[in-house]
Formats: sequence, structure tokens, C-alpha cells
Amino acid sequence: MLRKSFHPAAVQSRVVTPTDACWIFGYGSLIFRPAIPFVERRPARVRGWTRRFWQWSTDHRGQPWRPGRVVTLAPAPDDCCWGIAYRLEEGEAESVLAGLDVRECGGYVRMGIEIEMNGEAGAERAAGLTYQAWPGNRNYAGPAPIDEIASQVAAATGPSGTNADYVRDLDAALNTLGVADTHVAALVAKLGE
Ligand code: BEZ
Repeated sequence: MLRKSFHPAAVQSRVVTPTDACWIFGYGSLIFRPAIPFVERRPARVRGWTRRFWQWSTDHRGQPWRPGRVVTLAPAPDDCCWGIAYRLEEGEAESVLAGLDVRECGGYVRMGIEIEMNGEAGAERAAGLTYQAWPGNRNYAGPAPIDEIASQVAAATGPSGTNADYVRDLDAALNTLGVADTHVAALVAKLGE
């Protein structure tokens, strides 16, 4: 599992880039459908956060009258969230981010974040950006029992496809990375029932 190779005692950290806009951390659809130009892609994690299906999607995986659920980052001091870090061409960063701002306009905002990833010299840290849906944004769904989340996901579909496919594609991509995410896995199991 990836977790082992990131154990703090086993690695030496260093900062790899000074520019916030060069690295983007993806923890949702950016993992399995980046659809952005990038020069490098690395498995990575952010500490102090966990992935949760706590954001309504009314424009991609649901519709305003039957929203789907997509992921956001919830604070979790003792946890971390695994995903993919993309390094953007410096000259392209602003236009790529502007495109993502439009694509992810349903309540998400850019957030600066420290990203940890594996490199030739062990774990490397980089200042980067991610998209975060804070509580109180217009599409914030918040926590709910997993059965309730599963029935909402099963019922929702939008221009980007079914909400269930979003969940399964995310789960498959995390499995390929060797990442165990119990929240995602629990939802996939419920969808299969
Ligand atoms: C992601 O895949 O990391 C993501 C992108 C936009 C909004 C939320 C998550």
C-alpha cells in the first residue's frame, strides 16, 4: 500500500516547487478524468483532510431537481486524503485553472494546500492548489447516513454521466493506486446491494 512508503520515519521531506499554481491536487474526478494538460502526474496525499461525498452536484452528476453527491475535503486532523498531484506547465497554469474554475463552479473554490508525493529522493512536499467545497456553499450537502447517500447517488444522473458511475470510477482509480478509502468503498458496497 502507498501508505507505508509515506511513513514519516521512512522518508526525508523536501520542498520541490515554490510556485503555488504549478501543482494541482486531485481527489475526485481529477483522478480518473483529469481532462487538463499536465507535464507530470504523481500519487500524492494531503494531511489533515479526508474525502467525503458531502457536496451536491446539480451540473455534472445530477440535476437541480435531483442532485447527485460528489466529493469534497472534510477536515480530519489525524487522517490524510490520497489522490493525484498534477504539475502544470508554468506558462499554462493560469489558463488551466481558469478552465477548472468554470468546470467546477458548483460551489468549489481554489484552496492552497501542501501536497506530499513520492519522488526519486523519497517523499517530496510541494505547495499547490486544490478545489474545496466549504460548508455553507450553495451546494453543500453535508454528512448523512451511508444508506441515504447511496439512494441519492443511485437516483442521480447528469450531463457527465450517472452519479453511480462517478463513485465506481473513483473507487476503481483508488484501487489502482493501492489506496484504501473506507468511505468510498462503503458507498460502492451499498450501491451494489
Ligand atoms: C478533484 O477531482 O479533485 C476535484 C476537482 C474539482 C472539484 C472537486 C474535486
